[in-house]
Amino acid sequence: MKTRITEMFGIEHPIIQGGMHYVGFAEMAAAVSNAGGLGIITGLTQKTAADLANEIARCKDMTDKPFGVNLTFLPVVNQPDYPGMVKAIIEGGVTVVETAGNNPVQVLPVLKEHGIKVIHKCTSVRHSLKAQSIGCDAVSVDGFECGGHPGEDDIPNMILLPRAADALDIPFVASGGMADGRSLVAALAMGADGMNMGTRFIATQEAPVHANVKAAIVAASELDTRLVMRPLRNTERVMTNAAVERLLEIEKEKGADLQFSDVIEQVAGVYPRIMMQGEMDAGAWSCGMVAGLINDIPTCKELIDRIMAEADAIIHKRLAGIAA
Ligand SMILES: Cc1cc2nc3c(=O)[nH]c(=O)nc-3n(C[C@H](O)[C@H](O)[C@H](O)COP(=O)(O)O)c2cc1C
Repeated sequence: MKTRITEMFGIEHPIIQGGMHYVGFAEMAAAVSNAGGLGIITGLTQKTAADLANEIARCKDMTDKPFGVNLTFLPVVNQPDYPGMVKAIIEGGVTVVETAGNNPVQVLPVLKEHGIKVIHKCTSVRHSLKAQSIGCDAVSVDGFECGGHPGEDDIPNMILLPRAADALDIPFVASGGMADGRSLVAALAMGADGMNMGTRFIATQEAPVHANVKAAIVAASELDTRLVMRPLRNTERVMTNAAVERLLEIEKEKGADLQFSDVIEQVAGVYPRIMMQGEMDAGAWSCGMVAGLINDIPTCKELIDRIMAEADAIIHKRLAGIAA
């Protein structure tokens, strides 16, 4: 399949694996890229710029296909070394950067100077237009369904994607709730040039996370996510568990007086315990409603091949048959 996104990033299939904290290691990114999609290393999971340089080198050892690095700009306790990370990206020969959170204007000029394509993840049309106006090459439009940070507007992809298609000139991918060939065809029908998946890629053989995490996603239904930290305007969609229920109780008790320090135990530093040790109640971890569509743990190649075959059948058989 050829779209503006496959052409821009030099990939075979219009499928991107979004940056994911403590999931987006070299093994994950290389597996997706080797399967013809675009794998992405999560920059901030690496403690230092030198660690990121090492992770990029490890990924290059595992694939000769293009892959990207995610740089997330969110409120964090200690400011990461963004200039050092950008240097590691440039010197590592990475060709794509996925930015997310705040406007990426602080890193955009230097990335563009080095010919690196920038795809910015946005949860609204106004942020997508801003990304286009400052020179981003593409956007990843992340609907309310998504795992992670859906923003504060709560617009699902059925509305957000066609709105983005009407407003944008640069290409975009649909993100949030994407799982299979139906998702891809729907995304294309609504004007996207591909799709971005997070949660679906965690439940794959190569995802370098504890088996408990994959099992939790397979076991979950679309009813099992919760929105946390809304009173802090830092909303995150997470898988429900004991820690999340406690967090929501604290939010109710504190009401408008809630401070980040009130929920720090449930959200700060919990990812290594969950993703590496498989302690599923250690805290809040991002997960999309799409968990309800995930019933198996294929390899990345099996998953992507299946998506493309299903998309092909929908377009050429089901839809062509209806249109005839
Ligand atoms: C466990 C997990 C961790 C994530 N961490 C990040 C992150 O560090 N930076 C980021 O930009 N997006 C992050 N995301 C969001 C994904 O890149 C992607 O936008 C989202 O998962 C899409 O929604 P889906 O899960 O319905 O596919 C994370 C998502 C998950 C599920």
